[in-house]
Amino acid sequence: MSAWKKHEVFEKNSFVLLVGILVMVAIGGLVEIAPLFYLKSTIEKTEGMRPYTPLELTGRNIYIREGCYLCHSQMIRPMRDEMERYGHFSLAAESMYDHPFQWGSKRTGPDLARVGGKYSDDWHVEHLKDPRSLVPASIMPGYPFLAENKLDTRDIEAALSVNTIVGVPYTEEQIANAKSDLWGQAKPDTDAAYAFEERWPTATIRDFDGNPGEVTEMDALVAYLQVLGTMVDFSIYDDKANAR
Ligand code: HEC
Repeated sequence: MSAWKKHEVFEKNSFVLLVGILVMVAIGGLVEIAPLFYLKSTIEKTEGMRPYTPLELTGRNIYIREGCYLCHSQMIRPMRDEMERYGHFSLAAESMYDHPFQWGSKRTGPDLARVGGKYSDDWHVEHLKDPRSLVPASIMPGYPFLAENKLDTRDIEAALSVNTIVGVPYTEEQIANAKSDLWGQAKPDTDAAYAFEERWPTATIRDFDGNPGEVTEMDALVAYLQVLGTMVDFSIYDDKANAR
């Protein structure tokens, strides 16, 4: 039988072709998926990663509420052009406390995975209020109301504890003190700030929105933006150390 004769049965009979396709896809699926069941974890252990503080988590929720992810990705791919523009490619560990993750799929604006520390707080506040005052050709919408809206802190304990269900290691103490920590991080030199520092030694305490009188949604969003991509210290991170 010639090769064509053997193949003819698939090409002339759509049902047989369909079954053939399903068998091939099933084999491909098994080869790709089965090994994952035998791995303890698909995330490399990475120094420096910690869960978001209550203020950062609230900022993240505002980021999601406002749909920032529709124009911004948080996923630097391991390709030269991306790494030259944005920095070290994203590690799996960097989004392990993100539920849901914010990788995004569209870049109308730049990737934000490493935007933390790139600009001052003032820059972010001004840019979020009126992007065109700093980047004249920007098509990003302004969000001036964030600086007016006082932070809604009512459900912060719930926001932390629901994250523990999906594996974020918030401690009982961090959950119980979430509300006070939310204020403390944005109000330096207060008792709440000192208590916050004890519980979150690697987080930054500042008045993020330039308005010391109040804790606003702007404080939370800027705190979140400023921590993005800064938890892992890439000056000491060693790719090879993690290679298996
Ligand atoms: C309609 C699309 C769009 C939306 C929605 C949007 N942005 Fe942007 N963003 C842009 C564009 C375009 C730029 C580049 C021009 C500029 O800097 O304004 C940008 C730039 C930025 C930058 C500067 C990045 C850099 O590295 O220079 C930050 C930070 C930022 N956006 C944050 C946000 C946040 C936070 C939100 C949600 C509150 C948001 N953006 C919503 C389009 C958008």
